[in-house]
Amino acid sequence: MSSPAQERRTGVQLLSAAMLLLFSGCSSMDVIMPNSINALNGTTIKIPCTFTSCYKIDPNMFVMNWTYQETLNDTEEMIMAYHKKRGMVPLRSDRFGERVMFAGNLDKNDLSITLSNVQIEDEGIYNCNVRNPPDRITGQHGIQLNVVTELPPPRDSTIAVAIGASVGGALALLILSMLVVKCLRRHRKKELISEEKMEEEEKLDAEVVAEEGNKQP
Ligand SMILES: *[C@@H]1O[C@H](CO)[C@@H](O)[C@H](O)[C@H]1NC(C)=O
Ligand SMILES: *[C@@H]1O[C@H](CO)[C@@H](O)[C@H](O)[C@H]1NC(C)=O
Ligand SMILES: *[C@@H]1O[C@H](CO)[C@@H](O)[C@H](O)[C@H]1NC(C)=O
Repeated sequence: MSSPAQERRTGVQLLSAAMLLLFSGCSSMDVIMPNSINALNGTTIKIPCTFTSCYKIDPNMFVMNWTYQETLNDTEEMIMAYHKKRGMVPLRSDRFGERVMFAGNLDKNDLSITLSNVQIEDEGIYNCNVRNPPDRITGQHGIQLNVVTELPPPRDSTIAVAIGASVGGALALLILSMLVVKCLRRHRKKELISEEKMEEEEKLDAEVVAEEGNKQP
């Protein structure tokens, strides 16, 4: 679960990374993730992390680890690390047990993990630390995980409903105006027809009068 604001922020980050890529031919080291996400307790949450770099991952030199800290003041506990031969390996942890899994794709610079059966105690900062030599910059970014016990009020869906309603309203107006135009046209046609009829009737009347006139002795 990530809010539209976070998605927008990540979008902006991705866009600026893409711009950099366009102008420099490659993108400097940057770790991209939202600043915070909310998770419902008991569910599985994906904690996203991707990075940009001028270099493709060299499996022999790549260094990355995920750490957890309850607050900024607490020490970082390593929960996942990249291993030359074994790839991304979850580390033994009393807090998380087997609940942390790699969910990314190294070919796509995606280092995301999932945390299953989220607990209230899982709240805290998850850091994505990356070094991708020969890129000399170490990328580091943390995400604040907030655990909620019930879903927040569906604000997004009310917006969707509002948009739906206004689109619906606009459509209704359009249809209404089309109907009005059609009605007006039909009305005008009717008037034309009745005018023609009236002319015919007048002609008939005139003939009748003329005939009657002829009958007169
Ligand atoms: C989430 O937390 C609430 C409050 O602590 C609890 O009542 C509920 O059972 C929890 N749900 C899950 C799926 O763990
Ligand atoms: C972190 O530590 C500093 C001083 O050591 C303290 O002022 C601050 O309140 C602490 N912050 C948290 C979130 O515990
Ligand atoms: C975790 O990764 C960072 C960045 O690659 C690295 O500097 C740090 O030494 C690593 N930590 C451990 C304990 O390996």
